[in-house]
Amino acid sequence: MPGCGACASGDATADSQISFSLATAGGKKGLIHMNIMQQDILQQLEQLQQDAQTALILATTTESVRDWYSEYLSRKGRLTAILRNLGNLSAEERPLIGKVANEVKSALEQALQERQAAIAQAELDAIRSAESVDITLPGRPQNLGKLHITTRALRDIYAIFTAMGFQIYDSPEVETDEYNFQLLNMPEGHPARDMWDTFYTTTPGLLLRTHTSPGQIHAMREYAPEPIRVILPGKCYRYEAVDASHESMFYQVEGLAVGKHITFSDLKGVLINFANQMYGEGRKARFRKSYFPFTEPSVEMDIDCVLCGGKGCPVCKYTGWLEMLGAGMVNPHVLQNGGYDPAEFSGFAFGLGPDRIALQKYGIDDIRYFFTNDARLLDRV
Ligand code: PHE
Repeated sequence: MPGCGACASGDATADSQISFSLATAGGKKGLIHMNIMQQDILQQLEQLQQDAQTALILATTTESVRDWYSEYLSRKGRLTAILRNLGNLSAEERPLIGKVANEVKSALEQALQERQAAIAQAELDAIRSAESVDITLPGRPQNLGKLHITTRALRDIYAIFTAMGFQIYDSPEVETDEYNFQLLNMPEGHPARDMWDTFYTTTPGLLLRTHTSPGQIHAMREYAPEPIRVILPGKCYRYEAVDASHESMFYQVEGLAVGKHITFSDLKGVLINFANQMYGEGRKARFRKSYFPFTEPSVEMDIDCVLCGGKGCPVCKYTGWLEMLGAGMVNPHVLQNGGYDPAEFSGFAFGLGPDRIALQKYGIDDIRYFFTNDARLLDRV
């Protein structure tokens, strides 16, 4: 059957696609010369090729392609199983079938390669689109943090006083009874101690400072006999009945100036200048007589209400005035306790509340907001 073999191989080669069929493999003429065995094997090959093609279309993942390979093309696969029967054919019969079998095999191998390439590409595309960044998307707005209202008030205060030559001095929040009271002219049992409801610690003589005034003693003892101008900011603690205007923890900024020839006019000048810078030019100020054991004379300073301009409103409780601070000339005993000779030195001191200043400046009606961690408060500034 030489003619038959030639024509079969010619047809099959021309059709190098996977679309091998029995008709093209053997040709009409060829069929006449084929025995039953050959036809059977050729049919099996064609069936195998059809099955394999269909199955390959359905294999969409690397794993299913691997399964497909072991089912059809591996040594334990269906193609090998068919080729095992070639041994039953005669030496003349074998070449034709062998050729067709090889063509089926290489067609399937090529189809496999294409499939694998397509799957690899699809997997790559999937990764690309999952991990890609859309650079045309508008950016997410950054939610910037803000400084706490008290911090802002403190920084304003620092700027104003440092411009007037005051240095910032740090002093402890946990104090001794001696510094908080005794050295400020309040010996044990002194009735003026009632002005401060005090948190005592379990250690006798140790307490949370009720005001920043003990810092006056620390500063004086460090610098005496040099002249000083300091502000002492920090937290203070009082056993308060907490309400809209009282907290048990709050800030104070103490001021202290000690030198020769310091007068009450200096105190007024510094404080009026501060008020004008803090609340705006043209502030009205008034000084009322007051009492503190560590200053003599003592005053309290009010400014005209920042919110109503002095007409009267809920913030100023319809008085037109806001209480701003306590102040006075440093008591000679206190100067002495600080290491200065009161015959030679004089000084003034004041204590103001930045929390309260912030409340007034920003029209906030409840000091408790300051420590409840509700960030909406910061948007009101
Ligand atoms: N320490 C006083 C208080 O807490 C305020 C004050 C400070 C008054 C300095 C006079 C001088 O009330």
